[in-house]
Amino acid sequence: MKGIIMAGGSGRRLMPLTGVLSKQLLPVYNKPMIYYPLSVLMLAGVRDILIVSAPDQLPLFRALLGDGSRLGLRLDYAEQKRPGGIAEAFLVGADHIGDDSVSLVLGDNLFHGPGFSALLRDRAERLDGCTIFGYPVRDPQRYGVAEVADDGKLLGIEEKPARPRSELAVTGLYMYDNDVVEIARWLTPSARGELEITDINREYLERGRAELVQLGRGFVWLDTGTHDALLEAGQYVQILEQRQSVRIACLEEIAYRMGFVTVEQLRELAAKHEQTEYGTYLKDLADRARVSEPVSYAPPPDLAADPSGLPHTPLHAGAMRS
Ligand code: DAU
Repeated sequence: MKGIIMAGGSGRRLMPLTGVLSKQLLPVYNKPMIYYPLSVLMLAGVRDILIVSAPDQLPLFRALLGDGSRLGLRLDYAEQKRPGGIAEAFLVGADHIGDDSVSLVLGDNLFHGPGFSALLRDRAERLDGCTIFGYPVRDPQRYGVAEVADDGKLLGIEEKPARPRSELAVTGLYMYDNDVVEIARWLTPSARGELEITDINREYLERGRAELVQLGRGFVWLDTGTHDALLEAGQYVQILEQRQSVRIACLEEIAYRMGFVTVEQLRELAAKHEQTEYGTYLKDLADRARVSEPVSYAPPPDLAADPSGLPHTPLHAGAMRS
């Protein structure tokens, strides 16, 4: 499965913060925003990832993340000339996807919750058509909204409806089989002039090949689209990291736990941040490890206590209903 992060858009609602800097490069507490969606793809086991953003911002993303090799990833970059809609991901990214399946994540979405990595890997493996993730919110009219039957079956999806049929927002994380490229080619712009991701999802639904996974209680999904939401997301990360002494979306840690880099490589990554709290955290992690070989998608044996495969962090334990 390939990955795409949509990190363009106008950032209008966050002006003047986004006057010169892309929203997805703004800090969420102690990391650039894009670390959070990137961590989601990594937790899903996706290593070949395209970052899409505006032409003037792409060099900054590249300077921040490079080719990804230090994290055992392959990162590529592509321009979206103007914000023509999220579904443009599959036109801009057609070559990147090739004949593979793809997971798309929006660059301003933050996910955190028990069992997430295991859930993602499971859904990626069992993908048949399209999988979207729903989350109950108080203000569903701000989002794509899913209508579901009592048994959880997906019945319909509407983009920002004035009268939502449920409280289930469609989050900014999507998995598709290769048909998505062809479906995107047939889309026409909506009334707001965008190629809508909701239209792609509806097409899969019509074909009887769309599945909704509900992220239940105890799970956190935050978007960072307003000044208040951005601040709240930062506060959430701060509280959790300080209370539990763990890091959310620490890319080096995830790369190690996923088996993308060895413990020796983790040590080198830690050395790059020497004499910072971040570096100390990574060095402690390396010191605690007893094995050094990368294990594809499986946890190093000394970290295998949790069936999710990614123990000792609150990212990965527990249940989600689907
Ligand atoms: O956050 C989830 C919601 O995201 C979904 O529930 C909606 O169905 C979906 O349409 C989208 O709604 P938003 O109104 O929040 O989308 P927004 O325009 O804010 O863009 C979301 C992200 O995608 C943001 O990081 C910017 C990026 N983006 C957006 C557009 C329109 C691009 O990279 N290119 C674009 O052309």
